[in-house]
Amino acid sequence: MIKRFFIPVLCATSLLLSSCASSQKNSATQPIPSLKEIFKNDFAIGTALNTAQIEEKDAKVDALIKQQFNMATPENIMKAEIIHPQWDKYDFTVADKMIEYGEKNNIKINGHTLVWHSQLPAFARNIKNVDSFKTFFSNHINTVAGRYSGKIFSWDVVNEALNEDGTMRKSIFLDRLGDNFVTEAFRLAAAASPNTELYYNDYNNEQPAKRAGCIALVKKVQAAGVRIDGVGIQGHWHAGKVPFKDIEASILEYSALGLKVMFTEVDIEVLPRNFSGADVSQRMKEDPSLNPYVNGLPDSVQQQLANDYAALFNLFLKHKDKITRVTFWGVDDGQSWLNGWPVRGRTNHPLLFDRALQPKPAFYKVIETKKNEKKGF
Ligand code: G3I
Repeated sequence: MIKRFFIPVLCATSLLLSSCASSQKNSATQPIPSLKEIFKNDFAIGTALNTAQIEEKDAKVDALIKQQFNMATPENIMKAEIIHPQWDKYDFTVADKMIEYGEKNNIKINGHTLVWHSQLPAFARNIKNVDSFKTFFSNHINTVAGRYSGKIFSWDVVNEALNEDGTMRKSIFLDRLGDNFVTEAFRLAAAASPNTELYYNDYNNEQPAKRAGCIALVKKVQAAGVRIDGVGIQGHWHAGKVPFKDIEASILEYSALGLKVMFTEVDIEVLPRNFSGADVSQRMKEDPSLNPYVNGLPDSVQQQLANDYAALFNLFLKHKDKITRVTFWGVDDGQSWLNGWPVRGRTNHPLLFDRALQPKPAFYKVIETKKNEKKGF
């Protein structure tokens, strides 16, 4: 039933834009609709970019990025490990290129990320002395946020500081600086980059317990009189298990704090795993049964993915007055970090564009949500 309904609707949608077949076969000549255009009055549409993309190495990928997105987040190159490799040495080479890329292409940049326990440089992980760690912490934020002040649209100031139960994660920051480190990070970032929007970013913070912890954290920053502009819900979800009710409750509750809400790292994975979230230290053993779609997605899974994305965008449109941005964690399936995590060497399919850079059924279903909204469905 779902299948019979789905295919004609999909083709009808595509026909309005180009033909169903030609959008696949003739992508070089047939323009596909642009997400950033379709949703331009609703929210920004972003993507994560890796170094090759920032350096415009592949003309086809580059054209797709410029056609589809008006915001971008560096997938790795502004993380401390890369941008601040030694105590007194910073490497801004690729980060500077990203800023230029954004300026040139009218793509706003969300910096990612000033304070994160993961991908820290070795020297920082080894600082035992509290005063030295404090110096590293403030030097890092002042230098990196200060360099891009006036040039960068927003920062994920603190990333993933919470446990699943809403308590503070036992990170090196908590250990060396105590639980005020989040407030201090925002205070430093606001001083170093006064016109940049400042966000707290996490995964699973739509889940009730973690959401409560996140709200408490935000209130603490606000109570200290320190500026925080928004909360990012990363959105690493699983096909067939997207927590729509929790997402909606989170949009409402975060927004009630006077914050902008954004979805910062959206992907919907289709491969099996036995836990949720995006804690990069969690891994699973390799096993061929965990990699079932090497040659492409079966129709039923493709439809599940498309329906999940459609339901998600219907929800985003319903709350577009509260949501400022939806960022996908990658341009196409070939780039996705989910090909390498939590099991190495898998073939995952979590995004709207496939490995050949072709829009998937999920892409057209997302476009359709806007058409249906206009019709008042
Ligand atoms: O830079 C090295 C390179 O020198 C080396 O040759 C290569 C060999 O594996 O590894 C390279 O580093 C990899 C790095 O990405 C850059 O490609 C790391 O192994 C790999 O672990 C790292 O993964 C990134 C991950 O964060 C690490 O924490 C993913 O690309 C990136 O998508 C992912 O992004 C995070 C967000 O920042 C925060 N939220 C969760 C999200 C997904 O994990």
